[in-house]
Amino acid sequence: MFRRNFVLAVTLGAVAALGLTPVARADDAPPLKIALFTGYSGPFAIFGQEADAAVATFTKEHGDVVAGRKVVILKRDTTGPNPDVVHRLAQEAITRDHVDFMIAGDYTPNALAMGGPSAQAHVPVLIANAATTTILERAPSEVRLGFTTSQVAVPYARWAVAHGFKRIFAIYTDYGPGIEAGAAFKKSLAESGGMLVGEVKPPLRSPDYSAYVQRAKDSNPQAIFIFAPAGEHPQAFLKAYADSGLKEAGVKILATGDLTDELQFDALGDKTLSMYTVFHYSEDHNSALNHQFVKDFYSFAPAHVRPDFGGACVYDVLHAIYNVVEAEHGKLDYDKTIALLKGMKFESPRGPIMIDDHRDIVQNVYIREVRKVDGKLQNVEIDTIPMVDDHGNPVKMN
Ligand code: PHB
Repeated sequence: MFRRNFVLAVTLGAVAALGLTPVARADDAPPLKIALFTGYSGPFAIFGQEADAAVATFTKEHGDVVAGRKVVILKRDTTGPNPDVVHRLAQEAITRDHVDFMIAGDYTPNALAMGGPSAQAHVPVLIANAATTTILERAPSEVRLGFTTSQVAVPYARWAVAHGFKRIFAIYTDYGPGIEAGAAFKKSLAESGGMLVGEVKPPLRSPDYSAYVQRAKDSNPQAIFIFAPAGEHPQAFLKAYADSGLKEAGVKILATGDLTDELQFDALGDKTLSMYTVFHYSEDHNSALNHQFVKDFYSFAPAHVRPDFGGACVYDVLHAIYNVVEAEHGKLDYDKTIALLKGMKFESPRGPIMIDDHRDIVQNVYIREVRKVDGKLQNVEIDTIPMVDDHGNPVKMN
């Protein structure tokens, strides 16, 4: 009994520290159903394992009851970038399971596939990762807590020029977030006095990077900018880069952080050392909240799973959901929920974040360098571009 009360007191203390007010469970209150869409099978299963550890971390720290409603997570397997599967699962989650919220945990095409059914049924969708700016214009029920590739690419090009990289070749995956990353980087680079010396767009599925890296080599750049989604791409690109001799020739990689995703770091190995990347979350981010997040995450995750941007953003999505459910005292109204999400601010394991009037994320963007910290590969933050919107423009905070 004492132990139970003690654990409860610690949990309530953590909730209070976050500004969330814990409320005892009312036995007749219906459960709060949240459908979490991400990969749970095949090569994508590691994303599901990570999301589960993030959920376990958040509920350990903040409890699994909010405004008297017991939180129930329904895991939905996207099977990878697979909009047809996701569209069907989203419809089922709405009509059969009567979910209160859905979480878009992985790819842009999947978040888009959830847009129609969720807007029609007035079920809010919180995006933890899908990184294409235009999703929100097409999906009025969706609110982003992850990042956009333009948000990181625009300040990155400025940083690159300021650090002497002017002739840059761009490689970006041929779908939403890649196309936006390429266009945003190119524009920002030109505005900063740099020049894109060439660009290629490998396909989303099963890319072989050797021909693309050869094209980069032929253009004699100082550096290569690359966006490729986490998963199978980083491995394939880094192999082609290592085989090409570009590293020895001093051609630097300027990647988005997907390429040095902590989830895959140990498999990618030391060939990532000294690479520069830009991103919104690093396991190595130095804050008390992140240290707690990382510590708790490791207590739940399988041995091969490390916390990365995907896990941190699922954790933040739950934080946002708890905030609105509490503000509405457990009785949810769609318009009110969307209104409450707009303008919401809180501290994330990545640093301060805010959701703007366009339902999009405002946050710090970090330039990182891959280093070994206590024998472990880490993305070490070396520069911070404070509070930028989804297009990479600075936002004045008050
Ligand atoms: C996306 O599909 O928007 C996406 C997927 C994986 C990433 C980044 C963006 O690492």
